Amino acid sequence: MSSDMPDRASSVALLESWVENEGLRKHMLGVEAVVRHYARMHGEDEDVWGTAGLLHDLDWEKYPDEHPKRALAELKDLGYPAAVLRAIAAHAPERSGVEPEALLDKVLFACDELSGLVYACCLVRPTGIDDLAPKSVTKKLKDKAFAAGVNRDDVARGVELLGLERSEHIQNVIDGMRSIAEVLGVRAQDRP
Ligand SMILES: [Fe+2]
Ligand SMILES: [Fe+2]
Repeated sequence: MSSDMPDRASSVALLESWVENEGLRKHMLGVEAVVRHYARMHGEDEDVWGTAGLLHDLDWEKYPDEHPKRALAELKDLGYPAAVLRAIAAHAPERSGVEPEALLDKVLFACDELSGLVYACCLVRPTGIDDLAPKSVTKKLKDKAFAAGVNRDDVARGVELLGLERSEHIQNVIDGMRSIAEVLGVRAQDRP
């Protein structure tokens, strides 16, 4: 990993000091896991990529009006690499003016909203993520009343940016989230 970058433990501590909401913490951990999964698929630096996922919503709870600018200023001061800062800026292009261009930017953008939808799907299924398939997620994607906070246009744009089949991208998101299913509490055994 980049030797000059704060390590994961420092990043998690930073997250915990800025974000109190359990749901938002899980969202950030979930996005980290999915972005890491994509880093492994592409042979990219998993720590750099994962850090962008882990910290992308750092200021969302405390400074929603300044998101993500407040986080970017803090992360820059702390010595996070340019690739991390760029990707975090580009996950909110309408706020930052930075469009997703690098592969990491595109992956983070594409995983952000979709991971929220996959998470919501897990919560309403007795079997959670255990046997979740892209088909079920696609069905919920088309049902606009389900997890209405998930921006469907952003999901579509993310798929387009990656240039994958939608079902393929959904499967990758599911696989990434499965890798930390216990942390997210999305397995069958965690269901009420
Ligand atoms: Fe965000
Ligand atoms: Fe997010």
